[in-house]
Amino acid sequence: MPEPIAREAFRVEGGVPLSGTVRVSGSKNASLKLLAAAVLTGERCRFTNVPEIADVDVMVRTLRDLGVVVDHPAHGTYEVAAGDVDWRFVPLEAAAQMRASFILLGPLLARFGEVIISNPGGDRIGRRPVSLHVDAMRALGAEIHYRYGYYYARGRLRGGDITFPIVTVMGTENAILAASLADGRTTVRPAAQEPEVDDLIAFLRAMGAEVERTAPDTIEVVGRRRLRGASHAVIPDRIEAGTFVAAAAVTAGRLRLEGAPCEHLGAFIEVMGRLGIGVSCGTDTIEVDATDTLEVGLDPCDIETGPYPALATDLQPPTCVVLTRARGASRIHETIFEDRLEWLAELVRMGADATVEDAHHAVIRGPTALRGATVEIGDLRAGASLILAALAASGTSTIHGAHHVGRGYENIERKFVELGARIERFAEGSPETTS
Ligand code: EPU
Repeated sequence: MPEPIAREAFRVEGGVPLSGTVRVSGSKNASLKLLAAAVLTGERCRFTNVPEIADVDVMVRTLRDLGVVVDHPAHGTYEVAAGDVDWRFVPLEAAAQMRASFILLGPLLARFGEVIISNPGGDRIGRRPVSLHVDAMRALGAEIHYRYGYYYARGRLRGGDITFPIVTVMGTENAILAASLADGRTTVRPAAQEPEVDDLIAFLRAMGAEVERTAPDTIEVVGRRRLRGASHAVIPDRIEAGTFVAAAAVTAGRLRLEGAPCEHLGAFIEVMGRLGIGVSCGTDTIEVDATDTLEVGLDPCDIETGPYPALATDLQPPTCVVLTRARGASRIHETIFEDRLEWLAELVRMGADATVEDAHHAVIRGPTALRGATVEIGDLRAGASLILAALAASGTSTIHGAHHVGRGYENIERKFVELGARIERFAEGSPETTS
């Protein structure tokens, strides 16, 4: 059974426009795959700018359970040495805590020729199958059977053509990780174009892998017999950056983000522009000034999420909070996940006028004044967005389920406090288990 999780909640007193400077942490969704990639070699790998978040802890513990040495010599620095991996089994505990544990399928199979790995199953943002990952391994010659919740995978991998029916981020990553040690050439199409995939490619190349994005939606890999250890600085987290931009927008504040990946936020910044929020980009800074929007208001704006370079589904919830301030109706089309609009019910408890039409469509009518309420976080991105709503609201909010936010945001309440917010985290009631 998964370990019980300590119940925590946020208490937020809203109504303060945020102002100041905040440093963006390293990318969660890049770090998790980079740590897994280190299993492709027996030599030591070193990562800097890794965010100190619960999902990284889960990956580190999962690697250690396999016999991998993971050192943590400094804040944000992790060293991984997978010389002795005596256990090729990724258990239910890891999968239940974090779906991204399935990224270990490709590297373990490619390096050791076998792995037993738990099916990560569902998630609070909808059914999240892994069949495309499994099909990709089969296209590389793996034999995979499914029994009692586990995939039993084995075989010597050889290069092949991997054609996905849809764009999948982790599917693409699992495919290129496995292909890096397969015999011969692999082509992955359509390959996900997310910046985190390119960060993984950069690290694999530093390890000596022959991996190249030969067209925007195509990655080609020529397998190598061995890979070597390498060092890598993780790219900044574009979703955390976008969350802070939205926080400035929704509180009519002014923020400067440092270490911020403007070039990875094109579609989101375009949406902010259409709403009437001024965002300007420097080399690695983003400045957002929404102080005049209290008088002039925001324009409504229809949004549609999609694979990169379209608007990230992970930024849909923070964007929705900003849309409550717009004058008129904004339509939301969530194309990636089927349950990612459900959290809007919590936003409605805070005074938003939001109607979910079906699993993929919603309408938000504004402007509405948000007010403090007691709400429950269902998943990571919804959690951060409920904090944004509470920061903008009048009165006090209690937000249950704070542990979801710690999965992906490094010390979010401290960052907000430094920007003038009144937010604290406190322990509550009896423990619960994750689903
Ligand atoms: N899909 C399938 N079959 C599969 C795999 C995916 O049908 O075998 C479907 C999914 O259900 C979804 C679509 O394909 O409808 C795209 O999902 P994708 O595989 O791209 O998502 P993922 O790789 O599992 C990553 C991020 C998510 C992010 C999505 C989309 C990580 C660890 N997770 O998930 O991040 O929302 O890409 O960009 O990289 C988050 O950080 O909060 C988060 C959920």
